[in-house]
Amino acid sequence: MNQQQKINLTRRSKYEASPLLSRARRNTVAVVIVALSFVVLFVLNHDDGTSNSTALRQKPSQSADALRKAIQDDDSVAAEKHTKTNLVDPEAKNNLEDPDEDEETHPWSWIGYLDKLANKDVEFVTSELKEYADGKTYYKSPADFLKGCKAKELPDKRCGFLGGPEDKFTAMAPHVMKVLHHLGMTESSRVLEVGVGLGRNAQSLINFLDEDKYCGIEPNGDMLAVGVAHMVGKKAIDEKRPMFSTNSDFDFGVFFDDEPDGNQLFDVVTSRSVWSHTSKMQNEKYLASFAKYTKPTAFLATSVIKVTEDCSKDYNGTEWVGKSHDANNEGIVIHCMPWIREACAKAGLIAKSLAEEAPELMKGDGVQKWNDLGQPWIVIRHDPSESQETPK
Ligand SMILES: C[S@@+](CC[C@H](N)C(=O)[O-])C[C@H]1O[C@@H](n2cnc3c(N)ncnc32)[C@H](O)[C@@H]1O
Ligand SMILES: *[C@@H]1O[C@H](CO)[C@@H](O)[C@H](O)[C@H]1NC(C)=O
Repeated sequence: MNQQQKINLTRRSKYEASPLLSRARRNTVAVVIVALSFVVLFVLNHDDGTSNSTALRQKPSQSADALRKAIQDDDSVAAEKHTKTNLVDPEAKNNLEDPDEDEETHPWSWIGYLDKLANKDVEFVTSELKEYADGKTYYKSPADFLKGCKAKELPDKRCGFLGGPEDKFTAMAPHVMKVLHHLGMTESSRVLEVGVGLGRNAQSLINFLDEDKYCGIEPNGDMLAVGVAHMVGKKAIDEKRPMFSTNSDFDFGVFFDDEPDGNQLFDVVTSRSVWSHTSKMQNEKYLASFAKYTKPTAFLATSVIKVTEDCSKDYNGTEWVGKSHDANNEGIVIHCMPWIREACAKAGLIAKSLAEEAPELMKGDGVQKWNDLGQPWIVIRHDPSESQETPK
């Protein structure tokens, strides 16, 4: 039995087990049958992205380790290869675990905050986090946070999932800040970060921006609480008053009271390592929200696994792939440029790769060489010819 299903069985109602899983819990034989049928389903339909993620949820095997390493290295070619091997792993059926044991060891049971935060409105989440951050160990930088984790300064399990490879944890914020700054973000920009994770980027953004300018969405309340308590810290929360939401519907409207006036709309929306896990349906929701809740001059900078015109490897499933608030599986997905451009066009938007949008940023050689830390960026803007409003 895999981690996600286990959590589904034991966590709050939203993730409560389907009737199928409840039966499986009572009957180990049924578990084996269910798992075997997943394997069979996959073999019959090996190109379907949805069975992809199902099969990836098996307990780690050798190929799963190779996949994990490829993901860590942001090596999408190797990841693709090992995704395939992992899916047809003949040993998968032997790797089933007892569904009733070890919920305790789930890396996101760090502080058990999820139940308190999930599905609450923005104000509630923000004030709860403020209270939570009070008096906790504060790390000035992601590097210090990581060091603190390794030195076991933090209670066990609070350093579980970093939101990406460890060797890039500390390099990410400067990189993200460079990209956003180059694209036009200023201190007075109203910025929304979708998929905050532990907040390695949020910390820099919140410190850089004026007060009341930063908003963040992160459905994994545990992860958000750890980052807010130990990296963002009480001082920044008191002074800059960032707002957080735990909604998982890509609903940007939660940050506005009613119909927002034009000045309240976002100038910048950004996601790092989020479109590398989303389904096409989720991206469409994301784009609809972007179109509705941003100024005509706004931009979205979102990183992807690769910028490609080849759509043959695209993920066509309907669910998030990889770790999230309700999944503990590994995985990455590809969305090709033709699909992204088409989805944008439907929402009145235009998509370009950062390399196209800002070629000057890519220049440099030797130590100055452009480094996208493994995920290139896509920049999305409103299509001026579609806009009803007069651009500023
Ligand atoms: C790979 S991590 C990246 C975290 C962060 N952007 C960073 O660079 O450190 C992806 C994050 O997206 C979050 N996520 C999952 N489903 C989401 C959803 N529906 N809406 C927003 N974020 C989501 C996950 O919980 C996770 O924190
Ligand atoms: C997803 O759909 C596209 C367009 O129909 C197709 O080209 C691609 O091969 C599909 N992806 C997979 C993994 O089958």
